[in-house]
Amino acid sequence: MCGIVGYIGTRDCVELLLSGLESLEYRGYDSAGIAVLDDNGISIRKEKGRLSGLREILESRPLHGNIGIGHTRWATHGVPSAKNSHPHTNQDGTIAVVHNGIIENHEALKKFLIEKGYNFVSETDTEVIPNLIDYYYEGDLLTAVRKAAKKLDGSYAIGVIAAAEPDRIIAVRKDSPLIVGLTDDGNFIASDIPAILSETRDVYLLNDGEFVTLKKDSVAICDIDENPISKEIYRVQFSAQASQKEGYDHFMLKEIHEQPQAIRNTLRGRIDKDLNIVLDNIEFSDDIKKIFIVACGTAYHAGLVGKKAIETLAKIPCEVCLASEFRYGEPLINKDTAVLVVSQSGETADTLAVLRMAKKLGNKVYAITNVVGSSVAREADYVFYTYAGPEIAVASTKAYTTQLVAFYLFAIYFAEKRKTVPNHVLSDLKNQLLKMDEVAEKILEKAPEIREIAKSLADEHDIYFLGRGLDYIVAMEASLKLKEISYIHSDAYASGELKHGPIALIDDGTVVISICTNPDISNKLSSNVKEVLARGAKTIGFTSCMSDTAAYGDIVELPQIDPLLAPLPAIIPLQMLAYYVCTEKGFDVDKPRNLAKSVTVE
Ligand code: G6P
Repeated sequence: MCGIVGYIGTRDCVELLLSGLESLEYRGYDSAGIAVLDDNGISIRKEKGRLSGLREILESRPLHGNIGIGHTRWATHGVPSAKNSHPHTNQDGTIAVVHNGIIENHEALKKFLIEKGYNFVSETDTEVIPNLIDYYYEGDLLTAVRKAAKKLDGSYAIGVIAAAEPDRIIAVRKDSPLIVGLTDDGNFIASDIPAILSETRDVYLLNDGEFVTLKKDSVAICDIDENPISKEIYRVQFSAQASQKEGYDHFMLKEIHEQPQAIRNTLRGRIDKDLNIVLDNIEFSDDIKKIFIVACGTAYHAGLVGKKAIETLAKIPCEVCLASEFRYGEPLINKDTAVLVVSQSGETADTLAVLRMAKKLGNKVYAITNVVGSSVAREADYVFYTYAGPEIAVASTKAYTTQLVAFYLFAIYFAEKRKTVPNHVLSDLKNQLLKMDEVAEKILEKAPEIREIAKSLADEHDIYFLGRGLDYIVAMEASLKLKEISYIHSDAYASGELKHGPIALIDDGTVVISICTNPDISNKLSSNVKEVLARGAKTIGFTSCMSDTAAYGDIVELPQIDPLLAPLPAIIPLQMLAYYVCTEKGFDVDKPRNLAKSVTVE
């Protein structure tokens, strides 16, 4: 996730680029940069950190010009640093590029270009683009960009300027968003509408494979073979402010809805066309006898699902620990154990402390994290990135589901290596995983029905969640989501434990929400639900086992997939339930009281 913007026209471009980037900071903010083209050629200012840092640099070393491109970065390849920041250029600085996306074949392209005598200065995938354009450049920038694009695998939205052609910006998109903004005194490209909304509401929405030649008084669009494409102008209906959340009322809702894409991004390249699992460069010794999975909050719940998946498929014993407990306990870490930390932010103090402690004790530390360049990412021996994109709402949603994807990939990978489960079973799981984005998309359609249920819960003081096996973990995460944003007291119980205490809490009208995704144990759960029903509970079921539904008042039907994978789609409607209860109560969804997105102190 990054944001790009470009302007060509009669006005000075610098402030236009900066204010565009400001609106795109939600897409990433670990570094920012601009390139401006004037009579002296291309000049670049870029800096690690927020846009404010770039503004300071521009105050001391100003730039002026009528044509420029800008970028705000959410690092994927290469740590956040000035060197890795965009714009990137060819070797002599005559072609500059901003890019959003991932060039999956960048290693091969880099090798090819090095053989042709090109040098590289950054660790990014992007740097191959300006050099490839340079390689193909024979006096026409559009032709060179088209030729380069033919060689690029992966996703990209690209903006290009060249000193030799100071009257144009060339842009193209594939699997990454890009729009064109039209004004009387110049034209824009941008990753998203917010970047240009203060200047215009007239835009072209580009499709994959469309190339744009942007001049100060014209915009031409063509396909990869230079066939012209004509487009209707789209008039934006919403305000600049609302669009920062891309039309969603809250970041949490937006992030819930981003889950299909986040799942796709996390799976991309991790299961190849022959169904082989590619775990980045992670090495796992065959001698490991036990894995400690350590995390906090929602990431801890992801670890609980991970344990079940790894133990079921790979038969490696796992222990899931809260980081804050683990660090002060006496964990039996030894040469036969591995520590796997899970952290969306990669900055949670307790998780980081465990990572350091485990390394000190000589263990290899593996990490699942969402933030490139975070402390966890930098210090772990092996890192698996969830490509969920920036998660802004405090209540974690898309980071959690992508952490589950990560664990499923790990579990299947280990099982394959250890030959603990027949191949056809693993292939089936992989195929189901590859379709998980569609399953998530479908379940998001249930929003209206969940909203109605949420309305009936807004005045409750206590809500209990029940489940067995993996469904118990879903119940725990659902309960956490609900309590953290709606401030309703909530607990989750393993349904078999009801009669050992919790059933004493059930009274007339007590709300009990049950989750059931495993047909093999559904009758056990429904007996427990009937027990609370008999004591006056108001029962709601989130279930894929529709054979015994008599015990539930309201029912939300869950998809029928392999029970091991079921926690992933099952949590999505429960995230929505928490969200709608919160909005019904009128609380601050994205910034719940007393909580922070990243807990960097003990
Ligand atoms: C905070 C956040 C949670 C998150 C937890 C762990 O409590 O509010 O959403 O699950 O920290 O954060 P991490 O970044 O380590 O996953």
